[in-house]
Amino acid sequence: MTTLVADLKFELLIDAETIKNRVDEIATHLNTEYAGKNPLFVGVLNGCFVFMADLVRQMQMPCEVSFTKVASYHGGLTTTWQLRNDLDLAVNIEGRDVVLLEDITDTGNTLTYLIADLKQRKPASIIVCALLSKPAAQLHHIPELKYVGFEIENKFVVGYGLDYKEMGRNLNGIYQLLD
Ligand code: IMP
Ligand code: MG
Repeated sequence: MTTLVADLKFELLIDAETIKNRVDEIATHLNTEYAGKNPLFVGVLNGCFVFMADLVRQMQMPCEVSFTKVASYHGGLTTTWQLRNDLDLAVNIEGRDVVLLEDITDTGNTLTYLIADLKQRKPASIIVCALLSKPAAQLHHIPELKYVGFEIENKFVVGYGLDYKEMGRNLNGIYQLLD
């Protein structure tokens, strides 16, 4: 199945049911790992919002939700090296068990920057769950990256929260750029 997003053509890579099954698996792990705790889920906007909504609704422990925003892409297909903190976390994370939720890790620049920033605020623990990862694009090893939904090829993807030129976030599957 192909779809047009803005000016580019994409083809279905991961369908909605496959995503749901994998999100369920991650949720099961988190429910075990954080049983009896009170984790704080921190979503990296904007891309996290669909993944985060599906994941946190399966959490069975008392938990809180907050957001941060770092811009590394400015609407195109390639990353820029410029990172900008667009929205700071509104809660004190000192002593908290933080679960950072990201749509995709590409070079790892964004997560490396965010984790360093969050660690300065002295959380009790911090792990990362990313729905997608592109191992071939990775420039930084991220020891905190504990759960990855799917490892994908180094090709641009949209859907399930991810955008191309701010479009395509509403697609319920993940679509890959056609060559
Ligand atoms: P990194 O800093 O290079 O790891 O890039 C991470 C950020 O770039 C993610 O939070 C996404 O917002 C964006 N990004 C990376 N790859 C893609 C993609 O294939 N589609 C849409 N956004 C992407
Ligand atoms: Mg993002």
